Amino acid sequence: MNKAIIYVFSGTGNTMKICGLYKDAFEKNGVETTLYKVKAGFEDLPDPNGYEYVGFAYPIHAFNAPKIMLDLARALKRAETSKRYFVVKSSGEPLKINNISSYKMRSILKKKGYKQFAEYHYIMPYNMIFRHADDVVARMWRAARTLAPLEAKAVLEGKEHMLKGVPFGHLAACIMRIEHPAMRVNGRLFKVNKDKCTQCGACAKNCPVGNIEMKNGKFRFKGDCLMCARCSFNCPVDAFDIALLNGWRVNGRYDLEYAGEPQPVKHGWYCKKAYARYFARAEAAENKLIEIEAE
Ligand SMILES: Cc1cc2nc3c(=O)[nH]c(=O)nc-3n(C[C@H](O)[C@H](O)[C@H](O)COP(=O)(O)O)c2cc1C
Repeated sequence: MNKAIIYVFSGTGNTMKICGLYKDAFEKNGVETTLYKVKAGFEDLPDPNGYEYVGFAYPIHAFNAPKIMLDLARALKRAETSKRYFVVKSSGEPLKINNISSYKMRSILKKKGYKQFAEYHYIMPYNMIFRHADDVVARMWRAARTLAPLEAKAVLEGKEHMLKGVPFGHLAACIMRIEHPAMRVNGRLFKVNKDKCTQCGACAKNCPVGNIEMKNGKFRFKGDCLMCARCSFNCPVDAFDIALLNGWRVNGRYDLEYAGEPQPVKHGWYCKKAYARYFARAEAAENKLIEIEAE
């Protein structure tokens, strides 16, 4: 049986959800699939050489891959023979500039004998900047459920699918990677509202880089923050202050299956055309599938 591995980093679950769709689609096509959860230390890091299909998945942070994905690329064993891989990524907005996010990871992996052949991008609810309306979120998830199985199949078929860059993309990606050191500093400045905090400890336990220490009711934030937002997004009492980014804080799980009334649109103007294009692509694919099933 062919085997696939996807190295997944997911701060708040969106990217992992998409990878779940890939795993289902791969396994339906007879490919045994491992989703390796990327966290600091790279415990029991699987060797990509043992797999026919290799993928990397991450949320886009400041138009880049999170730092931990670059560290992962550096930690991986060299490819024994030239090895092809694909990338799956999620982000909150469908802007073309997000196409530049894999550049650095790609160049690290290239030096180790890996060659990227495909890249697929899914729009998922923001865990930073603003909260998407629930009906929009349900539409995003429906789009992902249509597109991901089709695109997973294209990956298994080895189809080339590289996203087109933007002018000065390498320079822009390089400048935006200031986010990596900046977030390490910012992470030290986090605060927890003691009146709200219930000391449940979930933030410290779930931080993917062990950046949060909680002792005798006191918090200490070290200098390794990835700004994945897992702590502040999942805090059950919204007790986090995420320093410089606090004005963009989003707290609380989304209901991906929301089936209620459309909600009032607060940010309807934002990237309106780009969202419309993304949904139109997904909805056209869905209609085509319905037609095929009806034949
Ligand atoms: C620090 C940070 C920076 C982000 N930057 C971007 C960005 O540049 N473009 C974008 O579309 N979304 C951006 N997002 C939103 C996430 O990419 C998006 O919500 C993603 O689906 C989260 O995936 P996860 O749940 O797997 O972490 C950012 C989120 C965070 C926390």
